[in-house]
Amino acid sequence: MEIALIKSYSNKPWRSPETYELIEDSLREKWRVRSIHTKNPQALYGFINQLKHEGGKQVFVFNIAEYLDEEKKTGFLPSLLEEWKVNHLGSSVKAIDIGLNKARTKEILDRCQIPTPRYFIATREDPENRIRAEKISYPLIVKPIEEGGHIGVREDSIVYDYAHLKDIINRVLAEHHQPALVEEYITGKGMREFSVGIIEGKIRLFTPVEIDFESMDGNHEILSFESAKKDLERIKPLQDKKILDQIIDLSSKTFKAIGANDYSRVDLRMNHTGCYVIEINIMPGLGPHSFLPEAAKGIHAIEYNQLIQKLTENSLQRQINGK
Ligand SMILES: Nc1ncnc2c1ncn2[C@@H]1O[C@H](COP(=O)(O)OP(=O)(O)O)[C@@H](O)[C@H]1O
Ligand SMILES: [Mg+2]
Repeated sequence: MEIALIKSYSNKPWRSPETYELIEDSLREKWRVRSIHTKNPQALYGFINQLKHEGGKQVFVFNIAEYLDEEKKTGFLPSLLEEWKVNHLGSSVKAIDIGLNKARTKEILDRCQIPTPRYFIATREDPENRIRAEKISYPLIVKPIEEGGHIGVREDSIVYDYAHLKDIINRVLAEHHQPALVEEYITGKGMREFSVGIIEGKIRLFTPVEIDFESMDGNHEILSFESAKKDLERIKPLQDKKILDQIIDLSSKTFKAIGANDYSRVDLRMNHTGCYVIEINIMPGLGPHSFLPEAAKGIHAIEYNQLIQKLTENSLQRQINGK
């Protein structure tokens, strides 16, 4: 078995050279690993093909990145790998396309009757937005439709009136060059937030954690770009069996509805009105301090290197079984 590790760096900590080094070391404990760092799809194609032909060995691509060129957002890796018909970690392009778009995800959640906050999409400044907002009622939260890692989610993304809503929609359109998702803001009595990692295998493992807003420095009520950048985000275990069952059930249904493979993480938020799926992170961070690896260790005593190996083995098993 040959493992091809694609190193596609970005300024996110889970895509840093240090993270890729840890992944490489973890894989090397079990397999022969060759890594590549390139922004050129042709060069990647040549590299994978060479591995395939060297002794006719089986090749598995360990990839955790959306794009080869993160700055230009070009070289969409899931579709390159799928086109080249090479075994690789993670979901299909079809599922990733849904998961990377918060509105498409919510459309499917609605269709499958999985509770998600009410929403509308704002593609331009439009007086209709006022009516749509009032239908849902304030407060609302405004996010770019296709970002992750809290990009474009700031403390002032929560809006309480139309003037502010208009400003933030305009900011998203101008700064992120994509539509804004305007969503019912889940807050108030009993507000809690959870994140549930899923590791697919013979037995599906869940890594449910609660966001520990109280131990985060400052007065945070959401996970924002600021809190991520300052590395303030904290999680805590949760014991309440009823809530655990509920969030595991919703996450499991979400994973299935989106058609994800291998691993994912579902973000949920609850208040006195119920528990809602906010999004699926179809390619969740796998840095040593990302939620999923931290929780895998805390809850299941799975060390970082074991997690990387488990994901690889489970993914290979799935693909050998032809799924
Ligand atoms: N509808 C909502 N109600 C309450 N809080 C929300 C809502 N949507 C997002 N948030 C807050 O913003 C954070 C980031 O939003 P999310 O949709 O998960 O985007 P990202 O892809 O950046 O993680 C969430 O973790 C949560 O704290
Ligand atoms: Mg999130």
